[in-house]
Amino acid sequence: MSQLNKFKRYTITSALPYANGPLHIGHLAGAYLPADIFVRYLRLKKKDVVYICGSDEHGAAITIKAKKEDTTPQAIIDKYHNQIKNSFEEFGIAFDIYHRTSSAIHHDLSQEFFLNLYEKDEFIEKYSEQYFDEDYDQFLADRYITGTCPNCGFDKAYGDQCENCGASLNPTDLINPVSTLSGKAPVLRPTKHWYLPLDKYQPWLEKWIDEKEGEWKVNVFGQCRSWLKSGLQPRSMTRDLDWGIDVPLDEAKGKKLYVWMDAPIGYISATKQWAIDNDKDWKQYWKTQENPADDTCLIHFIGKDNIVFHCIIFPAILKAHGGYVLPQNVPANEFLNLEGEKLSTSRNHAVWLHEYLEEFPGKQDELRYVLTSILPETSDSEFTWKDYQARVNNELVAILGNYVNRVMILMHKFYEGKVEASGESIELNDNLLNAQIGQFYDELEQNLEAYKFRQALQNVMDIARLGNKYLTEKEPWKTIKTNPDDAREALHNCLCIIAHLATCLQPFLPRTAAKIFAMLNVEPIGFADDIKFANGHQLNAAALLFEKVEDEVIEAQIQKLLDKKQAVVATKETPIIPAKENISYESFAAMDIRTGTILAAEKVAKTKKLLKLTIDTGIDQRTVVSGIAEYYEPDAIIGKQVSILVNLEPREIKGILSQGMILMAEDSEGKLSFVSPVDALHNGSVVR
Ligand code: 2FM
Ligand code: ZN
Repeated sequence: MSQLNKFKRYTITSALPYANGPLHIGHLAGAYLPADIFVRYLRLKKKDVVYICGSDEHGAAITIKAKKEDTTPQAIIDKYHNQIKNSFEEFGIAFDIYHRTSSAIHHDLSQEFFLNLYEKDEFIEKYSEQYFDEDYDQFLADRYITGTCPNCGFDKAYGDQCENCGASLNPTDLINPVSTLSGKAPVLRPTKHWYLPLDKYQPWLEKWIDEKEGEWKVNVFGQCRSWLKSGLQPRSMTRDLDWGIDVPLDEAKGKKLYVWMDAPIGYISATKQWAIDNDKDWKQYWKTQENPADDTCLIHFIGKDNIVFHCIIFPAILKAHGGYVLPQNVPANEFLNLEGEKLSTSRNHAVWLHEYLEEFPGKQDELRYVLTSILPETSDSEFTWKDYQARVNNELVAILGNYVNRVMILMHKFYEGKVEASGESIELNDNLLNAQIGQFYDELEQNLEAYKFRQALQNVMDIARLGNKYLTEKEPWKTIKTNPDDAREALHNCLCIIAHLATCLQPFLPRTAAKIFAMLNVEPIGFADDIKFANGHQLNAAALLFEKVEDEVIEAQIQKLLDKKQAVVATKETPIIPAKENISYESFAAMDIRTGTILAAEKVAKTKKLLKLTIDTGIDQRTVVSGIAEYYEPDAIIGKQVSILVNLEPREIKGILSQGMILMAEDSEGKLSFVSPVDALHNGSVVR
């Protein structure tokens, strides 16, 4: 096991999801499926591993949802904790414990951490001016306030974090802050909080993270380096909120711990609970041991928006406390998109796991397969229903299912499902096959240990491809008449290949692997175990592993996404931005707005949002740089008629001279849409 091999035990965590809504495919592809595959692999290698997760039940994410659903935070966490837990179970995410941060053991441990740091004088206590919503009589922490990110310009950044660029923020960093309660600009009021001096830990963090170069994923390492480069600031570990864990100080009555202080401690409290339930010693899975060679290997699986918390803040808390191991690795994934757009809970643009389970009963492995094939391991990736259909039909049905089925049917047809060996047992009796399968195992293990799960899945599928090829070449359905010994040996070899397949499939498609073992009538096999069948071994009946996905099913899912979107638009109470102050007619008339047609469009290199457009304005043909790349594909907008402000002063953007501005309507989600004439007009028509 490469360098992972040196560890005696492993503590694997997946990000604790907020119990404020159901899970969708983006969650699965981010922090859960990769971790589950990794953990199942470690278990197959007979390693001592504990896999930890649970619901994150504090913070503004919960109280805001309670307000939206007109209920209590407790009702919200109870409802979603159960729903989330059930979805994980159904998809076979094999946690050793799925815990809750609302539990007493977690509250106690979080307070103990806070007091430990407090007593060591690790906090800076400070009064400062914080944003306050006078209408709601409440301080505005974290998700209660949004504004423009000073780092990347994203205009829906939260008070504690920008989910676009991952920067960790303080509310006062936001440009144009707005309360999410009243929609108004907040006022400032003094309040006291306890800050963790991250700046003090900067030299230590720099050294620790520098050592991870080459080992951690490039995206994770790069993000950490760039935060360190911009200089860490003290960060408040307490909040003025009425939901969460009480700050355990008399003078902090009514204040709660910052959710990002308590949530990662949730990994430890969950381990404590698991240890109690299973008669284990939790300290072995978290504390530094007398002999460093006995330390556990801690790995956090997360999505990219959680990197700063797991690579900077939590390690600093653990270091400040002392006696805890630090993560060996934080293999964060990027984001998964859906049908060309970002997954969005508020726009209901998602494939929800509980809905999939209802609509595709028993087809959990199909989704696991497709998601693993497209995991956003190094960059954002995309789920489409057509791709789902193609992968199920062309890969699972046509390659994997077909191979297993052909061999099983022939074994039953020729030998009534019985292994009849000349010796005591049979094993893979072909040097070339043995060598090839050996190579697939090597590559598979290397990829799994490098967190390259997409590639690892391909290594497994290569075994099925090899089996199909071997079977086709050997043609036992012909040689059964001409050379029966040859036919029998070929089918016995095929059977051994199926056993190898099932073994390697276990981390990826656990239900399918179990079905194959059941057909083979053998107990599940570990990675290092021998594969053989005893003479006289009786196989069970052949059963189909996968079904073809029909076009109608896929079309219905695509339509469902469109319907959902429309329903959201129709029912949404859209916060309307208040009107600006009146202007004179002259000010309006000074703007020269024309109709124009897009002649050409291309992405501006190294930007996510910008398109370079060539517009026929009727007056001339000119270049305009427009921030619409997230909403329109270049090819799709050529020939579109738009409105363009032609007398805006030219401006250089990314080295391109932009002459004018395309008028766009922006909805409350920030989605942009062209303002186009309803009837086709000649270019250069005046808009007034
Ligand atoms: O981003 C989120 O969904 C957080 N609830 C993740 C928490 S991870 C951990 F630290 F608990
Ligand atoms: Zn940002």
